[in-house]
Amino acid sequence: MAESIKTTATSKTGLYGELTQQLEALWLGETDPIANLANTTAALMQVFRHHWIGFYLVQNNELVLGPFQGPIACTRIGYGKGVCGTAWKEEKTIVVADVQEFPGHIACSSLSQSEIVVPLIFSGNMVAVLDIDSEHLNQFDETDSLWLEKIASKLAQSCIWD
Ligand code: SME
Repeated sequence: MAESIKTTATSKTGLYGELTQQLEALWLGETDPIANLANTTAALMQVFRHHWIGFYLVQNNELVLGPFQGPIACTRIGYGKGVCGTAWKEEKTIVVADVQEFPGHIACSSLSQSEIVVPLIFSGNMVAVLDIDSEHLNQFDETDSLWLEKIASKLAQSCIWD
């Protein structure tokens, strides 16, 4: 196994392309969700250095904090609550340019200014969400949605969820 993620691209698209390839190699031969989610947060953090990168796992009627990189965070989020719970309810990616403008946003860190939440779907069921927070306004765009959805989809299929 490689010891670290290596990237040479200078564009965001290029970085995502290089990262995605290496993530797929990393997930190969491992089906445990915690192991694969944990390495994914470390790899994303190494490349993009956002404020907070992590997963919330669907457990019964709420989202429970899973592997993450960054400051400590809220542990449980209800269905339809905050950005994460809304992405779960609507089963779609949500990009928030300014968290102050999102009704019901849950502020785990006062430093977060923008956010993207991407669902992980396995066999038609939501199993988790990938949540990324930035200290900068308007940090995430179509390129992030596109690539993070690709990563989330491949990651969800790489794991055995029980
Ligand atoms: N802001 C999220 C809560 C999770 S933290 O950002 C890590 C939300 O509104 O769901």
